[in-house]
Amino acid sequence: TTYNIASIPGDGIGVDVTEAAEAVLNKLAETVGTFKFNFTTFDWSSKKYLERGWYMPEDGMQQLSKYDAIYFGAVGSPDVPDHISLWGLILPIRKYNNQYVNVRPTRVLPGTVAPLAQCQKRPQDIDWMIIRENSEGEYAGQGGTTHENSPDTIATEVAIFTRVGIERIMRFAFETAKSRPRKKLTMVTKSNAQRHGMVLWDKVFHEVAKEYEGVVEWDKMLVDAMTVRMVNKPESVDTIVATNLHADILSDLAAALAGSIGIAPSANLDPTRKYPSMFEPIHGSAPDIAGQGIANPVGAFWSAAEMVRWVGQGKLDKVADDFMQAIENVTSNPKTRTKDMGGSANTKETTEAVIKQIDVV
Ligand code: NAI
Ligand code: MG
Repeated sequence: TTYNIASIPGDGIGVDVTEAAEAVLNKLAETVGTFKFNFTTFDWSSKKYLERGWYMPEDGMQQLSKYDAIYFGAVGSPDVPDHISLWGLILPIRKYNNQYVNVRPTRVLPGTVAPLAQCQKRPQDIDWMIIRENSEGEYAGQGGTTHENSPDTIATEVAIFTRVGIERIMRFAFETAKSRPRKKLTMVTKSNAQRHGMVLWDKVFHEVAKEYEGVVEWDKMLVDAMTVRMVNKPESVDTIVATNLHADILSDLAAALAGSIGIAPSANLDPTRKYPSMFEPIHGSAPDIAGQGIANPVGAFWSAAEMVRWVGQGKLDKVADDFMQAIENVTSNPKTRTKDMGGSANTKETTEAVIKQIDVV
């Protein structure tokens, strides 16, 4: 089987880690021998935007629709306002391609220094799966600005929640929780203060929960209290479902608690498989370290492992697990992990170490 992958390196360290991920995926395919990756690179980036005035060409989405999956580095540049770059590339791709689920697994990999004392003793206490609603809510892009450039300026940012949108994310979250050993789901809202959309979340959640009675154990949290629980009782958390904004914040917290933003992966999924899904590390373009060759490629590798799992549709789960094992063998060793993980390797050395490990596991 050949999997055709649209590769969008984007900006800054996105370019370094995408190159690293492609090399590692090619090696993985070569070693297993039953499948191949065929990458096509798209030069959609902030640099190109500054030259030609657009991030994606008009038929960009049609071009992407031909691929089995999209691999994405990062977008963002000090020379372009962040809301322009985000809305120029990544948000339209997620929206157009029906990627209504964003899955963010969080674990403490060997070699990471988890800031919580509890997790330094028991790293397994952080083993979370954050399910982020990825298509609506606070990132609906609706609203506007009036009386601009006056003391009376009013800007509205309208969050949109639909029954259909809530129901499908809840179902995905319950199915995810069901597939994990602990079968536990925590639903996060702010339905005490936000009294329309968040109340609908509660309502639909309870409806879907009935279908999983006796199968998935669940509870509900307000988002502020959830941050406290993740820090104070990490072992009590398993699968989390939250809105676009809430889950974005919780997953950065999760990444920090797991030791480094550089290792955290994400998958933007269209569970109907009608459109291509997209895989990307959760970190940004990191202008502060761009061009130095020191970016941690582990978040990109982990995202690549999730892509292998997704395109394999159950047939490559073992391959993805072995790939993760190879990554963890590399992070265990200070000589082969990067600086942000207290190691001494650069991007290339970590990448080469993973390539070597793939032969071993
Ligand atoms: P960032 O994730 O790029 O960087 C935050 C900090 O973590 C920096 O100090 C950086 O050096 C470090 N870091 C991040 N990834 C790392 C890695 N792989 N290895 C080692 N260190 C790493 O977030 P920031 O600084 O808030 O945003 C920079 C730009 O990226 C902005 O333009 C922002 O809009 C964009 N961005 C894009 C995202 C995307 O494409 N999905 C996601 C987040 C931010
Ligand atoms: Mg974020």
